[in-house]
Amino acid sequence: MSTPHIEASADDFAELVLMPGDPLRAKALAEGALSNVRQVNSVRNMLAFTGSWRGHEVSVMGSGMGMPSMSIYAHELFAQFGVQRIVRVGTCGALHAHMALGDLILATAASTDSAMNRQRFQQWDYAPAGDFAMLESVSRHARAAGLTLHAGEVFSTDYFYHPDPDFVAHVSRLGILALDMETAALYALAREHGRRAMTVLTVSDVLPTSQHFSPAERQAAFGNVADLLLTALLEEDQ
Ligand code: HPA
Repeated sequence: MSTPHIEASADDFAELVLMPGDPLRAKALAEGALSNVRQVNSVRNMLAFTGSWRGHEVSVMGSGMGMPSMSIYAHELFAQFGVQRIVRVGTCGALHAHMALGDLILATAASTDSAMNRQRFQQWDYAPAGDFAMLESVSRHARAAGLTLHAGEVFSTDYFYHPDPDFVAHVSRLGILALDMETAALYALAREHGRRAMTVLTVSDVLPTSQHFSPAERQAAFGNVADLLLTALLEEDQ
């Protein structure tokens, strides 16, 4: 039961899917955190894997970069493959100087400069929010583990290289914590399909101080907290 972008059987995906942007990060994450890992998609090299974690089935799949790419994959996973929960495990650009490379951001909600949610919502302003129970559980486990975590709003932008030189000043002004390029679309799609989603981001760029992860650091980001995330989402009643 393939879709235009996922060549897999109906039962190849677990109910919980972790989605980094980068398909090679999906591979590294699956191989690092899961056992009995099998590859379930390779169309356009958007690699997807399913394996097991302490007896629970879990899938990991790349989303690609940006809201159109995330929307294609999240739509097909929710609509065709019975996926119940998607967790975006991405990287972000932090908007405030007190944040450090490697800090975690939990996205409670996502503003955006994309037109996608306006098109789906009568041109009104939709407020896409993450699933509270999932965010709360991950927040509690991360704090108990002593990780530096910031919970609040992100801004999902269509531009990595924004043409407005004052863009960062504008978005920081309203207390938004960080920039990504996917969350506003994922959160709206989850609601549209009656499913659940959350985003946890590793700070890979601190925009006010011009600090940046190397490409290798970007690719390794998050691997070390996969166990914590899966404990929070699979070993507690949600
Ligand atoms: N902008 C948008 N998305 C990002 C960034 C950024 O600076 N860093 C990581 N994802």
